[in-house]
Amino acid sequence: MIVVVGHIIYSKAKVVHDDGEFDILCMGPLAVLPSYQGNGIGSLLMNDSIEAAKALGHRGIVIFGNPNYYHRFGFENAMKYNIQTAEGTNLEEFMVLELYEGSLTGIHGKFYADSVFSVDQEELANFEKQFSNLCNWIMREAYTASLFYYNHDLNSK
Ligand SMILES: CC(C)(COP(=O)(O)OP(=O)(O)OC[C@H]1O[C@@H](n2cnc3c(N)ncnc32)[C@H](O)[C@@H]1OP(=O)(O)O)[C@@H](O)C(=O)NCCC(=O)NCCS
Repeated sequence: MIVVVGHIIYSKAKVVHDDGEFDILCMGPLAVLPSYQGNGIGSLLMNDSIEAAKALGHRGIVIFGNPNYYHRFGFENAMKYNIQTAEGTNLEEFMVLELYEGSLTGIHGKFYADSVFSVDQEELANFEKQFSNLCNWIMREAYTASLFYYNHDLNSK
């Protein structure tokens, strides 16, 4: 049996400036099942994925997160690289990791996450409506199926 105890997600993002548009990775979310936390799983996911990102030729990783956790992996305030949020601000929680020496040279501007993160509220509401209908259908079918098997089981005795 395989048990998933943690996950890490990366998406493609952009840093945009008048003089160009630069590809960058965005990490998040990262999570470990509470009962497995504090055993190095989060660090393993971070370190392995950072190595994979380097091997794939990426130049940097942006994150929004707790600096106390991410500084240990080499993340620094994005201000150091002249990278701002899409709103043009900088904050301690907005960090970047240079994947190899000088890899972020020339990359500066505003950070834009992939459009997949932009939520159209109406579309979301419709999606959730469909989802709950689907859930109801699955529950009804599962209930009918369990009744069927229950009857079948009783009949076979
Ligand atoms: C953050 C998280 C992924 C760390 O995973 P983990 O497997 O427990 O981490 P590790 O075992 O590799 O590291 C444990 C260290 O991280 C620290 N740590 C854990 N969560 C932290 C947090 N939210 N902020 C700061 N430090 C944190 C622990 O204090 C511990 O520090 P130490 O090594 O100095 O003792 C996990 O706690 C989690 O899933 N938290 C809930 C979701 C979350 O906050 N995700 C991050 C979003 S930015």
